[in-house]
Amino acid sequence: MDTLVKPVGVYDDTIQLFENQYLTPQGITYNSYLVVDEKIALVDTTDHRTVEQWRHNLIDAIPDGRGVDFLIIEHLEPDHSSQIEWVMDKWADCRLVMTVAAAKMLPEIVDTSSFGDRVTTVKDGDTLCIGSSALTFFTAPMVHWPEVMVVWEPQTGTLFAADAFGRFGDGCASTKWADEARRYYTNIVGKYGSQVQALLRKVAHLPVKTIAPLHGPMITGKEVGECIALYDKWSSYQPESSGVLIACASIHGMTLEAARELQSMLAERGVCEVKLTDLTHTDLSNAVAEAFRLGNLVLMSSTYDAGIFTPMLDFLSRLKSKGLSNRRVGLVENGLWAPAAARQMRQMLESMHGMEIVEPMVTIRGRLTSDSRTHLTSLAAALAEAVADK
Ligand code: FEO
Repeated sequence: MDTLVKPVGVYDDTIQLFENQYLTPQGITYNSYLVVDEKIALVDTTDHRTVEQWRHNLIDAIPDGRGVDFLIIEHLEPDHSSQIEWVMDKWADCRLVMTVAAAKMLPEIVDTSSFGDRVTTVKDGDTLCIGSSALTFFTAPMVHWPEVMVVWEPQTGTLFAADAFGRFGDGCASTKWADEARRYYTNIVGKYGSQVQALLRKVAHLPVKTIAPLHGPMITGKEVGECIALYDKWSSYQPESSGVLIACASIHGMTLEAARELQSMLAERGVCEVKLTDLTHTDLSNAVAEAFRLGNLVLMSSTYDAGIFTPMLDFLSRLKSKGLSNRRVGLVENGLWAPAAARQMRQMLESMHGMEIVEPMVTIRGRLTSDSRTHLTSLAAALAEAVADK
């Protein structure tokens, strides 16, 4: 028989904070898939927030009163694993299929007392015959947890990709994929670039027609190659554009005024894209995503408590923890009596990989004066030259 892939996941448009930290104005999907062949495999479950709808979708999708033969766990994080016990209780012959690392972690996540010997562990490259199709498992440790694996279904050319290729927002493929996928990737998986690179190499030989992630739309057609190319860039910390992100943290607005002036200076010097983000008024996950997208940064911060103003400190901490690398960075500080932000920002950047400081560092004391404007102009010229040289 033909192998069928049926999505049974749920769109959660009521969630406000994913992982209790990332704003989700367009909600998020918890994807789950039924693979129907002579046997039926269910790939992952759902979050506790969406149980009722998910059970309805699942039962509705199972043909001819059949049951689930295999519950395949790509990822044990609770946003995907809330219904493992329910599935194992409902279908008494169902086998749970997961990596060795997942099996070790399993009792910490769910009560396994009724599972008996129904847990099958798989290793990299193992296969599972479900009729005309045989699923192949590829381990993907730290994309985004250590127990993760992805699953290849050859009849339909579907790569079930776990958290890889996930995206905030609904499951509709017609909306633009990259922006919310970039924000999801950089903030949630961004730290694990080398592990994502390893996964991309591991599955590069597969003739993928469809990518089926655990969040966001399924990816098909020419978008498969485009999305893989973006993942290759993001996970190797290469920018998509040679433009400049000016990230500004201003207490009373004078640093922000200077940031606007620098933006104009760079535009006048022909820099292709100059984006200004006010860190005091944006969800920092957006700023992190933009820092990954653009090749150059200018960090402009007020001095606060003899150090870096809090929103900038948070932003830099996130960039460091997400592993952002290989960027040119200009530094501007503001402080009336004891400016200290630039030196401390520089120290943080020096602890990151491949961050090149573009001189001069600029100090402003309150408002822009002719002296500080001259220094800012020098920084704009140096940045424009660096961008043109790239
Ligand atoms: Fe969607 Fe890492 O969980």
